[in-house]
Amino acid sequence: PRFDTLITNGLITTAVDAYYADIGIKNGRITALGHELGDAAAEIDAEGLRVLPGGIDAHCHLDQPMGDGAVMADGFYSGTRSAAAGGTTTVMPFAAQKKGQSLRAAVDDYHRRSDGQACVDYAFHMIVTDPTETVLKDELPALIEEGYSSFKIYMTYDDLKLNDREILNVLALARREGAMVMVHAENADCIAYLSELLTECGNTGPYYHGVAHSSIGEREASHRAISLAELIDVPVLIVHVSGADTIEQIRWAQSRGLRVYGETCPQYLMLTAEDLDRDGFEGAKYVCSPPPRDPAAQEAVWEGLESGVFQVFSSDHAPFRFEDTKGKKLRGENAHFEHIPNGIPGLETRLPILFSEGVVKERIDITRFVALTATNPAKIYGLYPRKGTIAIGSDADLTLWDTSAKNTIRNADLHHDVDYTPYEGIELTGRPVLTLCRGRVVSRDGQPESDAGYGEFLACAKPQPARPRGNAKGF
Ligand code: URP
Ligand code: ZN
Ligand code: ZN
Ligand code: ZN
Repeated sequence: PRFDTLITNGLITTAVDAYYADIGIKNGRITALGHELGDAAAEIDAEGLRVLPGGIDAHCHLDQPMGDGAVMADGFYSGTRSAAAGGTTTVMPFAAQKKGQSLRAAVDDYHRRSDGQACVDYAFHMIVTDPTETVLKDELPALIEEGYSSFKIYMTYDDLKLNDREILNVLALARREGAMVMVHAENADCIAYLSELLTECGNTGPYYHGVAHSSIGEREASHRAISLAELIDVPVLIVHVSGADTIEQIRWAQSRGLRVYGETCPQYLMLTAEDLDRDGFEGAKYVCSPPPRDPAAQEAVWEGLESGVFQVFSSDHAPFRFEDTKGKKLRGENAHFEHIPNGIPGLETRLPILFSEGVVKERIDITRFVALTATNPAKIYGLYPRKGTIAIGSDADLTLWDTSAKNTIRNADLHHDVDYTPYEGIELTGRPVLTLCRGRVVSRDGQPESDAGYGEFLACAKPQPARPRGNAKGF
């Protein structure tokens, strides 16, 4: 037969277009789009379904060693199974450098953790915490060349943060070598000051995590990151933006013609500070940084998604169990908020939440949905056009959506190894009913069907959007 698989009668939807065509797949790639394409070993009838590019979750944490000894609930197997069940076919977690460690060693270690484990394709970002001369002169240039063309830096957390001079040094390196820099923008001293004050007043519950991680501190750090990037003349991407203060900074930069990109996440649309104030220790389930804010912040984030301030919508899946199997609270019984691991799960619920709350409720259109969840992350992190779109020559990473199916989020139905979802009980419309990665089915009706080791490691090219202004070369 001419094709391994033929997908017929679907409404193909990309970041720019929607059209009816059949998709011919051979050796994991899309080799034809059209009608009456020829015979195939297998045929999938997509009548009545939308056919979208598989999701790219460009910000998630899997099996990442933590400075404080906390252990992540998901490694590459459970994390990517969960991703597949939610319509995601590529994940980008982080190879994190410990201070004092070589960056190469961190990347090698992360390959050991992921080899043979993944059910969908994956690429690595790096986390640079110790930009020594060796890292800047030798390791980073070589690693960027080898396919690790993006890295995250932190402005807070003692074991991760860089000072302004270090940030300038890595931004200059990124400019020279063509890497995309992601910034966790929160002012460390503002957090430390507020935490100390709250502790003195005896305000140590989960709710006060959100108070200590102020919107002002996030805004200031975002502005500083943007200014440092402008000084160096290099693009930068502000990750996990929580609300209007930071959005204003990004929009200001973009209106000045700077290549400043923004990412936001489901928690900033669906949760508020009130969730951290839930009864007992339940609020600990909602602790993440930056924290969810208020309804006005949620509206601002929607507006940013609609107007184009944000290019990327990621889960920031950071999986920590609430209790172990014996009922012991791993986050510590009534622990001080400073000792609650930061982060919430969301790999499997990212796409269904944005689809239902965004597309079905008509806050964003479906082409914007595809751009935010697949096409833009592929471009921004150097995976385009192999990933992120439906085109001849691209990998056959596809997800077929029933746009009117109803379902309710239940942690019992999810496939991560976290013992809760912050979105329990939320009712959604629209769901991925069949997902293919390189032409093979990886999930069906919310159930993963892929095996550990099917997922391939992806080397990322130097992204065009990481180029300084005036150097646009197009794709
Ligand atoms: O609280 C969060 N977001 N934890 C994950 C790590 C990070 O900073 O993205
Ligand atoms: Zn972060
Ligand atoms: Zn993160
Ligand atoms: Zn391959």
